[in-house]
Amino acid sequence: MTKSSNAMWGGRFAAGPDAIMEAINASIGFDQRLAAQDIAGSRAHAAMLAATGILTDKDADAIREGLLTVLSEIEGGTFEFSTALEDIHMNVEARLKQLIGEPAGRLHTGRSRNDQVATDFRLWVRDQCDAAESAIVAVMQALLAQAEAGADWVMPGFTHLQTAQPVTWGHHMLAYVEMLGRDLSRIRDARKRMNESPLGAAALAGTGFPIDRHMTAQALGFDRPMANSLDAVADRDFALEFMSCASINAMHLSRLAEELVIWSSAQFRFVDMGDQWSTGSSIMPQKRNPDAAELLRAKIGRIMGANVGLMMVMKGLPLTYSKDMQEDKEQVFDAADNWLLALAAMAGMVTDMTANQDNLRAAAASGFSTATDLADWLVREAGLPFRDAHHVTGALVAKAEEKGCDLPDLTLEDMQAEHGDITASVFDVLTVEASVASRMSYGGTAPAQVRTQIARWKDILK
Ligand code: ARG
Repeated sequence: MTKSSNAMWGGRFAAGPDAIMEAINASIGFDQRLAAQDIAGSRAHAAMLAATGILTDKDADAIREGLLTVLSEIEGGTFEFSTALEDIHMNVEARLKQLIGEPAGRLHTGRSRNDQVATDFRLWVRDQCDAAESAIVAVMQALLAQAEAGADWVMPGFTHLQTAQPVTWGHHMLAYVEMLGRDLSRIRDARKRMNESPLGAAALAGTGFPIDRHMTAQALGFDRPMANSLDAVADRDFALEFMSCASINAMHLSRLAEELVIWSSAQFRFVDMGDQWSTGSSIMPQKRNPDAAELLRAKIGRIMGANVGLMMVMKGLPLTYSKDMQEDKEQVFDAADNWLLALAAMAGMVTDMTANQDNLRAAAASGFSTATDLADWLVREAGLPFRDAHHVTGALVAKAEEKGCDLPDLTLEDMQAEHGDITASVFDVLTVEASVASRMSYGGTAPAQVRTQIARWKDILK
């Protein structure tokens, strides 16, 4: 026996869909997450239809009351979603019909599921931008607190993960604050660009009904209606831009997570991750694994993957709407969920981690980290060209290596054997404290510079 055709669009169909067709066609399994946005969009549309005289006030009132009931049923978990009704739009409308009868059928006047879904999805992604914005700020605040606590703690700065020059803990934390500050401005910017209303574009060409798109745009908090109805139903660039912002930020979080994994290892011991963010091993009793940081490092993979996935869905589609675009949602839902989870985990980890000031300092003092300071001294005090100073310093590093000591442990005689003009005052620049304090160039690692930048960020984030 064939199933009967769809009540919403089945006028020209004699038979219902194959079960597999129903399975591949239905989106209700995931787009029910758009219920609140769908109902908000329908309420704005119904109010506008009444204001423009397309609907009677009586019908609009019935629709509004009915939609509120549907929303409370969905929020209360009593709503029965039906796969046969395909998606959230038709599930809501069908229930509205059961509740209020004939006026429900008038709600879809002057609109289509194409502008409806574009509107719902923009509203949803816009909410995620707001959530991400606060979540990024929370991580920045956690980093800022760390920076403030250790503005002058000395640690090794790395290039190629080899000891390069001493830097300050505060400076390192602020490097991430800067990166996240750009992520913040990116997501705010994306939000501004996406805040235009597709509603009223109808199927693709607009409508002959005298609708007021400015009214619905305003009711839904959009800055204005989109100016081209084809574009309004055809593009998903707002979702792609959201995921691009997410990807870049997740990449930053991943780099910090990678550092936390390295820093919490027995070989580094730069930080102790809180117990809250570590796990034990079922066989090795000594283990404290930085699982949260590792998982966070992996999140970029699925977020960027979702971004690329949707890009592939969109790239070959002729204008305007194609059903391919129904595949936009799960990617974005997954990216948004995992992004927000990653941000929350990072805020927690950074708040609860403890830097080991002594280990940081000891590591900073090893690896000939003040060799550049020695070369700079030779330029400044002995008048050597930098290339020559570099060469003399290299020879001194080799000598220290041979003696199994660090640069400040060499004797003045050792020094003078390489260059006769070296005096005892060279030892003043060889400590890690002197090294960082000297780096007073704007944006440099000197504690005084770091404190200036902490004050600037506190002001920005307050
Ligand atoms: N569930 C559909 C989607 O997510 C809604 C739009 C359907 N439009 C259509 N012309 N079949 O894309």
